[in-house]
Amino acid sequence: MRFSEEFLNDLRSKVEIEDLIARYAEIRGRGRTPVCLCPFHNEKTPSFVIYKDTQSYYCFGCGAGGDAITFIRMIENLDYTEAVRFLCERTGTAFPNDPVDDELTRRRRRCYEANREAARFFHAQLSEPHAQKAREYLQKRALKKETVVRFGLGFAPDSWDLLLKHMRSKGFSDNELVMYDLARRTQKGSCIDAFRNRLMFPIIDLRGNVIAFGGRVLDDSKPKYLNTSDTVVYKKSTALYALNFAKNGNNDRLILCEGYMDVISLHQAGFTQAVAGLGTAFTPEQAKLLSRYCSELLVCFDSDEAGIKATQRARKILADTEIKLRVVRMVGEKDPDEIIKKYGAERMREILEGAVNETEFSLQNAKARFDVETADGKVGYLNEAAQILAAIPNAVKRDVYITQLAGELQVSKAAIEAQVSKIVRNSRKKEDRAVFGQAIRHLKGEDMPSPNPDKKRFPRAVKAEEYLLASLLANPAYLRKFSSRLGEDIFLTDYNKRVFSVLKNRIENNLSLMPSSFADDLSEEGVAYISMLLALTSQLGGTERAFTDFLTILAQEKKKALRADGGALSDADFLARIAECKKTDSGGS
Ligand code: UTP
Ligand code: MN
Repeated sequence: MRFSEEFLNDLRSKVEIEDLIARYAEIRGRGRTPVCLCPFHNEKTPSFVIYKDTQSYYCFGCGAGGDAITFIRMIENLDYTEAVRFLCERTGTAFPNDPVDDELTRRRRRCYEANREAARFFHAQLSEPHAQKAREYLQKRALKKETVVRFGLGFAPDSWDLLLKHMRSKGFSDNELVMYDLARRTQKGSCIDAFRNRLMFPIIDLRGNVIAFGGRVLDDSKPKYLNTSDTVVYKKSTALYALNFAKNGNNDRLILCEGYMDVISLHQAGFTQAVAGLGTAFTPEQAKLLSRYCSELLVCFDSDEAGIKATQRARKILADTEIKLRVVRMVGEKDPDEIIKKYGAERMREILEGAVNETEFSLQNAKARFDVETADGKVGYLNEAAQILAAIPNAVKRDVYITQLAGELQVSKAAIEAQVSKIVRNSRKKEDRAVFGQAIRHLKGEDMPSPNPDKKRFPRAVKAEEYLLASLLANPAYLRKFSSRLGEDIFLTDYNKRVFSVLKNRIENNLSLMPSSFADDLSEEGVAYISMLLALTSQLGGTERAFTDFLTILAQEKKKALRADGGALSDADFLARIAECKKTDSGGS
């Protein structure tokens, strides 16, 4: 039986892989990458690694790997559908029967239609005489006509049932409208419009569907914003406002701010990479979504205390992704909208350009908590600063900050260095050496099981291919970024060619990259292979530079392999290969 992508993503998100595996194996070293004795083969030292960041596991001993669904399938010896049912029961999720699933699809479609109709209605209302106040408000907020149209802004009139009446006339029942949160039921059981006398902001998903609304009052009354609650098509913790526009830019950088108005003002001023969360604290799901579209994120939350807290939280969440974070310090005003309005777009650009990186932000925050004019304060700040600096992986970068800090506080550089290295040494010890060793062994040796029949013949090329595939899994945005250098034809082995085309298709269609979601296109071994690649991404890390280096290595290896292989080919194949070599020759160097 086939399950919908949405359903499976939802189910996976309800299971914490570490807890699930802990029911079957004794987990050691609960950190970022816990390990245990592999429940699928006999061993004395643990080779089974759990990757919390990708919610997957991989055994470096026997090559078993996958995600929660795969794990249950193997350990409980169930088929795929049964494993899904098992996890549904464990997480209290309704198991989709075919008819129910159809019903859900139908309801979703109706909900999209209702929202679209409502958005049209609200937008049209803006031109009605009774929208005079709303039009004045838009003017006061300096929103241009084309901005209003682009964002589909609208007006919910000051009436109990104008939208209701309109929607009824379009064939929607009151029950439906309540379900989609466009109407509310009163105590007496009748229905009223959910949004009244508010400026309306439709929220649009990546496919262009209107999935929800935010509605702002036109004055200072409370609550300032009313938002659609979660519905069959909307979960506010996973959506981002204006990502539908921002994702189209050629920019590898997005701007994350707090509110609807910030996003709109930024776009109007030319900063079309701006998005915002939707009235919730930043979530890991949102981080994951962003990581598909950018490798750098400028966070510009409000300059108040809540904004600083929110920044810290976002920082923690983004630490589990490949996204580089830069923090924008709002100076002069509270949020981007106000800065643009008061000082103009040029000033905003300067502020964005002055965004500090994570380290600077953490240092500034730590410093603010101490009185560095006193000896105690200085020591306190230095201790915290040493912790922050110890977390920087690059030694040269570390040195830059140490020098800066020594100058700033008039302390010897050697003293700070000693403190930082002590912390670095201690934290390294804590890392599981065995696990690291296994990853290295894997990279060097050929002893791992592999579904790729050409691995023995072309070990180096296959390593390069695996590295590239692993990097793509970790950084799906590379697909677009390096599109000119990435195609099936760069791969030497047919197996990885196929894995690449499956992966490419999933990235392009925004589908889940969890191992078991590859089960449709790849064999069981293939799913384990994906987990192995995920394991590589977690343990080896990677940079764009490494990615392009491996592209080059692969091209060279491919060239070599094709030449060496020449003798065994038929004449026609041989000629075709020569032609291919020439292509790589001219493209390569
Ligand atoms: P802000 O109050 O900073 O919003 O709240 P804003 O966009 O700057 O609004 P203006 O400039 O006063 O018009 C940030 C975000 O928090 C959510 C909204 O998503 C808002 O955009 N919020 C805020 C609510 O959901 N409800 C509220 O009552 C207030
Ligand atoms: Mn504001």
